[in-house]
Amino acid sequence: MRPRLVAGNWKMHGTRAAIETLVEELKRGIDAGVRAEVAVFPPYVYLPCVAERLAGTAIALGAQNLWSEESGAYTGEVSGSMLRDYNCRHVIVGHSERRTLMGEGDDLVGRKFARALAHGLIPILCVGETLAERQAGRTEQVVARQLGAVLDHAGIAAFRAAVVAYEPVWAIGTGRTASPEEAQAVHAFVRRCIAARDPELAKVLTILYGGSVKASNAGALFAMADIDGALVGGASLVSDEFLAICRAA
Ligand code: 13P
Repeated sequence: MRPRLVAGNWKMHGTRAAIETLVEELKRGIDAGVRAEVAVFPPYVYLPCVAERLAGTAIALGAQNLWSEESGAYTGEVSGSMLRDYNCRHVIVGHSERRTLMGEGDDLVGRKFARALAHGLIPILCVGETLAERQAGRTEQVVARQLGAVLDHAGIAAFRAAVVAYEPVWAIGTGRTASPEEAQAVHAFVRRCIAARDPELAKVLTILYGGSVKASNAGALFAMADIDGALVGGASLVSDEFLAICRAA
């Protein structure tokens, strides 16, 4: 069985007090019923306090982003080694919000992915189509391009230490989830793209679904053959919801 992962992307939400409360609730709520790996992704400034509170627990820490260079004159950016300093295990790269709002292209995403690996961080590479692209029948073409750009940069072997997240842009924060069958079809496609270069690796690659995952729909999504967990936004800010998703995985 492939490793299962439930990742909570807190995006730009919360205050220090709210985040401390959330972390304590998650620590109390993680029990033997949760067998998937669980990771949380706070905003950068809260990484130190969350790292301290998670030390010695089963909950892993991740970052929402990193910069593509090791160090230097990059005002406002954060490097992979800085994330390692705070015990980050994972880092999200290529989230659609960064692709669209911050103009991150495939090339930059590829360089960030490679940089994350160079620092021993596990990149969670987000791919996914917009509603217009889906309606134009271009989902597979878009996902293949996004994956291909990173494969060209980092090589297939790099995916041994990486996770892919399929996040259809039209399902993010909209309350409109891809149906389990719609998600499964794209997950299977992602696995086929990887299998074309390395069939053995494709069998063990963890592929997450993201886009309006809630406690009420998680079970049906996780029942699909190629869905190995979730990248959760809004519902990860509510401890009961997030813990229920963790149990479902
Ligand atoms: P929502 O769960 O809020 O739709 O967000 C998904 C997401 O973007 C996770 O990275």
